[in-house]
Amino acid sequence: MTWHSTCSGAPCKRSRYFYDVDGNCRADYTLGWGPLIVGSNHAGINAAVARQLEKGYTYGCQHIAEIELAELIVDSVPGVQQVIFSNTGTEAIQSAIRIARAHTGRDKILKFEGHNHGWLNNVLVSYRPKIVDSTLPQATCGGQPESEFTDTMVLPWNDIDALKDFFHRHGHEFACVLTEPVLANSGSCMPRPEYLETLIELCREYGAVSIFDEVITGFRIALGGAREYFGLEPDLSVYGKALAGGFTMSAVGGRAEMFEVLRDMRTIHSGTYNGTTFNIVAAIETIRELRKPGTYERMNAHGKAIAETLTASAAKYGLDAAVSGVGTVFSVHFGVKQAPRDYREMTRTDMETYGRFRAAMLDNGVQLLPDARWYVGTQHDDAVLEHVMEAIDASMKETMGCS
Ligand SMILES: Cc1ncc(COP(=O)(O)O)c(C=O)c1O
Repeated sequence: MTWHSTCSGAPCKRSRYFYDVDGNCRADYTLGWGPLIVGSNHAGINAAVARQLEKGYTYGCQHIAEIELAELIVDSVPGVQQVIFSNTGTEAIQSAIRIARAHTGRDKILKFEGHNHGWLNNVLVSYRPKIVDSTLPQATCGGQPESEFTDTMVLPWNDIDALKDFFHRHGHEFACVLTEPVLANSGSCMPRPEYLETLIELCREYGAVSIFDEVITGFRIALGGAREYFGLEPDLSVYGKALAGGFTMSAVGGRAEMFEVLRDMRTIHSGTYNGTTFNIVAAIETIRELRKPGTYERMNAHGKAIAETLTASAAKYGLDAAVSGVGTVFSVHFGVKQAPRDYREMTRTDMETYGRFRAAMLDNGVQLLPDARWYVGTQHDDAVLEHVMEAIDASMKETMGCS
């Protein structure tokens, strides 16, 4: 294959491909770990940001574009009546937790194994540790004092009985339950039928706030994220990544009632850069692009075609493989016949073989993430698909040592 040689011409447009420092050009399925859902160098985003740079970088007070973005989000996402803005997903998660605590007057939070909610100590627990049968949180890395996560409890995900049992014993103590609605960070595992519904219902019954962390799924698995995809309305949802197409923007949205604690000053949401203008206008342009008819159908069809090629090619060269997730974000699992349903199952997949496959894909002109997650964007057209399908076959053959 010749795709990865230095590109100067026709098929390479910067919006669709990844260029490294040596001038290699590759089809990119990392999308900057998710945000680049409409590609880099998007003409509409560039123009809006350029216009805004001439007007002002940040104002330190509410501005008209913030209102426009808020209205666009409310119009795009089912059940979101009000939003607040921050910069990163990590910050927005903390805002959601604070709102939940102020709303309930409780301190404890519940999260699930393998779920990532940003890099702060109260949530970066039991994310990539070895499995332990305990609801006590396990630090994910060095430098995390236990005193900073004593109010966090952890359960295995996708287990309705464990969730019910936990709530019956401790439900009244908890301010909120945080979940990725699709476990994108640990294998793109889909929720079992009724799991998310049960979680929301239990939260309502016990007076806890249900929070969907949609930093990955928001504006990705559907325009209205998991709320639209699953037809569910948790109390709060958190957005980041795809929301602003690569600019540093995040949001918390939900029922207007949830934001009462900010209006009556029971708590605060502050931050010098929460309304930084070019992030806001980038988000407006991204959402406008995503709202164009047929956008999600095309992205999903693209992702589905890759997923089918991956499993067919693995079978052809004698490797067990399964794919989980949806067309716009999915994970491929080697060494298993069925897609994992939670973090524990995900840790049993063959990442060593995936590592070799990923290296072969890089040589064959396709840039992939190390954790076997693939992101699809509007920039992935039929020409890219054709190339990726060829690359998958060639790379699978090399990985399996077939001549
Ligand atoms: C589901 C989820 N929540 C929160 C975060 C944190 O977002 P950020 O990296 O923007 O702080 C991430 C980051 O990858 C994420 O995947």
